[in-house]
Amino acid sequence: MLVRVNPSKKTNSNSMKYNFDQIIDRTASNAEKYQLRQQIFGTEDLLPMWVADMDIQTAPFITEALQQRATHPIYGYETLPESAYQAQIAWMQRLHQLTIQRETMLFSPSVVTTINVAIQAFTAPGDNIIVQQPVYFPFFKSVTNNSREVLSNPLKKLADGEWTFDIEQLKSVINKQTKLLLLCSPHNPVGRVWARAELQSIANICLENNITVLADEIHSDLIYKPYKHIPFASLSETVNNITLTAIGPGKTFNLAGLASSTVVISNPELRKKFSKACEANHIGHGNIFGHIAFEAAYRQGDEWLNQLLNYLQCNIDALQQLCSRYPDKITMLLPPQGTYLAWIGCSGLQMNRKQLLKFFTEEVKLGLGAGFLYGTGGREYMRLNFAVPNPIMTQAIKLIEKQLN
Ligand SMILES: Cc1ncc(COP(=O)(O)O)c(C=O)c1O
Repeated sequence: MLVRVNPSKKTNSNSMKYNFDQIIDRTASNAEKYQLRQQIFGTEDLLPMWVADMDIQTAPFITEALQQRATHPIYGYETLPESAYQAQIAWMQRLHQLTIQRETMLFSPSVVTTINVAIQAFTAPGDNIIVQQPVYFPFFKSVTNNSREVLSNPLKKLADGEWTFDIEQLKSVINKQTKLLLLCSPHNPVGRVWARAELQSIANICLENNITVLADEIHSDLIYKPYKHIPFASLSETVNNITLTAIGPGKTFNLAGLASSTVVISNPELRKKFSKACEANHIGHGNIFGHIAFEAAYRQGDEWLNQLLNYLQCNIDALQQLCSRYPDKITMLLPPQGTYLAWIGCSGLQMNRKQLLKFFTEEVKLGLGAGFLYGTGGREYMRLNFAVPNPIMTQAIKLIEKQLN
């Protein structure tokens, strides 16, 4: 059965200013998601829904700003302009009621760069760093790449399928060498938008044990109703004092390839250490097109984002309906609260991790993120990126359904 996803269900087409339905041929560009199909999946004959960028076209006001900048014939050194920082500060206030002081912000080309620099700045080789799997794999790769130890504090799954922090386990594993906690908020891949009480319980432990927190909040604008993102640093002044918040337009506005983000560090001592590590790695300039897109996004992006979230909700609904038709095979007990990533439980298929990957790659013909790549707890899951035009979602659902029938 072909499931039609109807955008007009959630979005009144008359009020739709932006076109998210346009299907863009990304094989015509150098998109990783498409270019690496052969290398990752051993075939190009699949619909790739793995890398976390969108197959939805960039907002026109961003493209126009970039085109305008391209007409200027000099592309020399530039730093992120003051006006761009101010645009992000205003955005954070509007969307998240977070007040950010300009002097607490530093540029970083990417959030993963921020994670690596934080590891270098606040820990020494041999120290251990708390990682809460299943999680976006650069969290633990960055730790081991820098010769630090992963202190594993896996998320736990409650009876209703909800994932949460395992606070008791965290208390029991912390030791004197524990210096940093990498928080993913909202969480990739489980899709949780953490509640205040959950964040507070993490904060309490970190405060008690003198642990710095790197809050990766790159997905924090991608939140579905009725959820609300709570910036970790907003919990209290004391929490703010131990927190680095990594934010940027990469996910929200699909600008990952333009490599621009910031990190907010209120504590001057932490900020000084972080800056020193940035200098050691010659991080600071970014790229001029990234700067332009960054500012255009935060200045003009409110309505585009609202419409995008309504549009993506249709894809979530369609996935949920699919799962509810095959409850003994695939599950999404709780739909994503944030991000554009669905974490689909596949234990009903009774396959080991290799078989599961082979099934989706060779039979379904979808390129998904294999759950085991996200660490402990991920083995029976597949991660599907649903930031695609509704007709592509329809196609993906049709492919899955054909093999489940
Ligand atoms: C939680 C999380 N952090 C960081 C990134 C990557 O961000 P950047 O491209 O800015 O390094 C991703 C991309 O998927 C992500 O999901």
